[in-house]
Amino acid sequence: MTVPASSPAPGFPPADAPILLFDSGVGGLSVLAKLRQALPQAPVIYVADNAGLPYGTKTEAQIAARVSGLLGRLTERLRPRLVCIACNTASTIALASVREVLEVPIVGTVPAIKPAAAMTRSGVIGLLGTQATIRQAYVDRLEAEFAADKRLLRHGAPELVAAAEAVLRGQAVDPAVFAQAAQALRDQPGGAAIDTVVLACTHFPLIERELGTAFGAGVRFIDGSDGIARRIAFLTQGQQFARTAPDLALFTQADEAVDALRPALAQHGLERIGKA
Ligand code: DGL
Repeated sequence: MTVPASSPAPGFPPADAPILLFDSGVGGLSVLAKLRQALPQAPVIYVADNAGLPYGTKTEAQIAARVSGLLGRLTERLRPRLVCIACNTASTIALASVREVLEVPIVGTVPAIKPAAAMTRSGVIGLLGTQATIRQAYVDRLEAEFAADKRLLRHGAPELVAAAEAVLRGQAVDPAVFAQAAQALRDQPGGAAIDTVVLACTHFPLIERELGTAFGAGVRFIDGSDGIARRIAFLTQGQQFARTAPDLALFTQADEAVDALRPALAQHGLERIGKA
């Protein structure tokens, strides 16, 4: 039997099968930027559950139900080759249960505590995430495994999620918002010695410049996006990629805030917008 040139090798996905990147809002764009560098030809569908944003102030049960329901439905409809949960809150709560029900490979987002522990000189690490993320046993386990001999100070900062969304809509944000988040970590016992801050929410690398000003020189930031991009590249090794249409961004709710995001989405190569 002759196999047409366009057919994938047996067991491999078709070349136009997308990578589905999922977040509650624009945070996953920080991961998409790194994914573009690693796999420039990969077709991507970006999905934002903006009807559920913010996740960080919801309960574990609410987040788990939304994420599994939505990813189940979208995986059926879009047939991705791989799903990336580009959201620390959703990953630390729902990754294991989503993996149990979906057959497609799933890559999650883990707070970058391990590399932070290797980077710190003072031994004091700050962790900025959502309120839901910082209370997870998942984070306790990472701390125990990789930073037991360090001091890890956590702060849940929902206002930074809103700030990142606003910045990507082209709106100005009061610098006091960033200063207050930095202060909340500095004010904790030992906080004056923080030299490394884990950005444990995918929204936060999008406002790293503003956070850098707020924390001042001498503080370095680390997030999980490089590791995620590497992991996706590893799991898709040997696969063919061909983008047959401009990449697509899907939102669970169509509103004027989504319209305002068009330029930022286009900058990330997401030229089409639709309904999830
Ligand atoms: N971007 C998400 C994260 O990485 C959460 C933002 C939110 O919905 O609160 O945690």
